[in-house]
Amino acid sequence: MIRITFLSVIFFTIALPLYSAGRLTYYCSTDIPWCELMKKEFEKRTGIRVSMTRASSGETLTKIRAEKSNPKGDVWWGGTGDPHLQAAEEGLSQPYTSPKLGELHDWAKTPHQATGGKTVGIYLGALGFGYNKELLAKKGMPEPKCWNDLLHSAYKDEIMMAYPSTSGTAYTTLASMVQLFGEEGGFTYMKGLHRNISQYTKSGSAGIKAAARGEITIGVVFVHGAVKQATKGFPIVGVSPCEGTGYEIGSASIIKGARNLESAKKFIDFALSADVQSMSEKVKSYQVPSNKKATMAPEAPDVSSIKLIDYNHSLYGSKAERTRLLKKWDTDVKVLPR
Ligand code: F6P
Repeated sequence: MIRITFLSVIFFTIALPLYSAGRLTYYCSTDIPWCELMKKEFEKRTGIRVSMTRASSGETLTKIRAEKSNPKGDVWWGGTGDPHLQAAEEGLSQPYTSPKLGELHDWAKTPHQATGGKTVGIYLGALGFGYNKELLAKKGMPEPKCWNDLLHSAYKDEIMMAYPSTSGTAYTTLASMVQLFGEEGGFTYMKGLHRNISQYTKSGSAGIKAAARGEITIGVVFVHGAVKQATKGFPIVGVSPCEGTGYEIGSASIIKGARNLESAKKFIDFALSADVQSMSEKVKSYQVPSNKKATMAPEAPDVSSIKLIDYNHSLYGSKAERTRLLKKWDTDVKVLPR
């Protein structure tokens, strides 16, 4: 009798409120500490229990597509915007207009407008690379300042980047080179870079983390990723290449067929709030927040001083173009000897 009473107390005070508050299955495509911070803070504020999976941008798109007939995820937060745009085009995400939309910069509203509300911008980041200045000096290598510098034979086996198919960072690199140098020039560039790559990784930030640990000299990465390693005390220098560079509109989408739709909408509202976006500083994530009132760390790269190209997100986030470029990279670049 006493045992039943005790179990009832547990049920009515802990289990039932948690169950009725709801659940959320959340796919995250930015760095793990930020993914986890968002999960914890959302659970704390709403009582909704969150189960999270972290995977790179392209990988997550593939997962959501594979689960299309039986969706397991509710919301996809973070990662470069191009695969979110493709998900919208493929009918893998669903429209939602958050009451927070009016608080956002125009660049964050553009994907929302372009997809009928299926995806929205959460942050902006400029592409570049970073290098380990101690290793560079030790090996007597010149300081790279431009994309074209990375083709120099001095950097053979000294550069890491990710696979464009799995990583949003690497796909942004490929699409940026095509936009900077033209289709032929862009692929010639990627072939030249391939000769100097020591290893391709799944995740975009793996290269700069390896450079921070001294395992490699250069990582092709979003500049905020290089700044993150520098502020952690590693001898990393972030570079915004002299020719100009591409950029991402990191995005969030509600997955079509979400089982926990109300929780997913609450998560989007939460993620677009100024105070939540301002928390990114705590985990040294230095992208530009999409909410105009969110604060930015002083260490964050000043994107207004970076020469950004007029990146064509609607073209390079389209299914046809992204699929074509990825296939061409696989057949024309990946197979070449290094
Ligand atoms: O690590 C953060 C970040 O650089 C984001 O700005 C970006 O959206 C994401 O990583 C891309 O990760 P990946 O290249 O692994 O898809």
